[in-house]
Amino acid sequence: MHGESRWAGIRSGSFGASGDLYALYDAMRREAPVWGAPWGDVYVSHFDLVAACLTDPRMSHLPPASGVASDSALRNWLIYQEGSTHAAIRAAFQKPFASGGPAALKPYVDQAVELHCTTVSDGDLDIVPAFARAVPESVIARLLGVPAADIPRLRAWSMAARELLDGGFGTAFDETTNAVDEMSAYFTAHAARLLKGRELPMLLAGLPDLVGKVGLDVAGANLALLAFAGHETTVHLISHLFYHLAWAPDQLATVRDEPKLVTNAIAETLRLETPIQKICRWPTETIELGGQRLAKDTLVVLLPGAANRDPRRFAEADRFDLRRPVGQNLAFGRGPHVCIGRALAEMEARAVLAAALERWSAIEPVEGGAKWLDNASFRGLDRLVLRLAA
Ligand code: HEM
Repeated sequence: MHGESRWAGIRSGSFGASGDLYALYDAMRREAPVWGAPWGDVYVSHFDLVAACLTDPRMSHLPPASGVASDSALRNWLIYQEGSTHAAIRAAFQKPFASGGPAALKPYVDQAVELHCTTVSDGDLDIVPAFARAVPESVIARLLGVPAADIPRLRAWSMAARELLDGGFGTAFDETTNAVDEMSAYFTAHAARLLKGRELPMLLAGLPDLVGKVGLDVAGANLALLAFAGHETTVHLISHLFYHLAWAPDQLATVRDEPKLVTNAIAETLRLETPIQKICRWPTETIELGGQRLAKDTLVVLLPGAANRDPRRFAEADRFDLRRPVGQNLAFGRGPHVCIGRALAEMEARAVLAAALERWSAIEPVEGGAKWLDNASFRGLDRLVLRLAA
């Protein structure tokens, strides 16, 4: 068995320092791109193999019934659905993006940026709570009709969900009551209230159809997913963007000189520091992958963060380079479950960066100012103190 003890950290948590994770991915890609872990799961790190699994219809999203018997609301989340249930929830959630288009979301983003980015003071600032978290949080709350007073609860649930998901399916699905259940109960009550009112919030135009097709409880669980997925990852995208620009002053100067490179900066950040580090699939039959046979129902963990640094795909893959052609990376997934909210996440990151570049002539790192999340499923910063000067 390759790297058995060296790679055990991939299972859950334990990545404090920024370098550890990528050294592990390097070794995995080199020595065992399809790695059967001693605990039975399989990890996939090559770009081509991850991309192939994302679009392979034999790779199911549905966790096998055996092993995870529980009523956890997580079971109802869109990301663990297939077939008609998946289609119904996805259609409801895509409705606002398809009808008004992302442009309809712009005023929400602009207002949040105005509120959180232009009012903070200069000097040494932890940008994570100040705007990297505050902007996506307040945007998703307004788009879902969640009152501002409930944002602290949304924050606590999201952080708990992040930890719960990193704990593995055994724990996440088997706990009888957890943060996701509480969050789902809140959103089920929220959905019931909204359906009695006259106007639906922007992102919930498809709510009546959704409830008609899957019922109120499943709809509530999926509103919780939308609230969680709709901001937790964007928080990390924005923090990573500022981290990499602050730590690479030449790149920061480049994007100041050529504002059109903001798009590259966002794509390059998502490639280099992919917020979602694990995507799970279960083969519906025995399959062959990278020369290995994988049994039906094996948990196959795709590692988009490893794929996005695969040197076979990206030259000098560990380098943050705004001149790199914007190619396709796997940060938003691919195939039938590809991210619904990409346009919104990118719009938020663009707006925050534009406001920051206009406001501060200096955005600099502070020694010891960065603290990485201790989480192997979500890549992010708990704290990012930067020195900002007008
Ligand atoms: C930087 C920000 C984001 C990243 C990196 C990201 C990443 C991803 C990835 C990798 C998937 C695919 C999961 C899989 O195949 O199992 C996904 C799915 C999803 N994302 Fe995002 N996402 C982001 C922002 C958003 C936002 C802003 C929203 C909502 C407004 C959102 C809503 C969703 C939903 C509902 C799904 C499930 C789609 C399905 O299962 O069919 N995401 N996202």
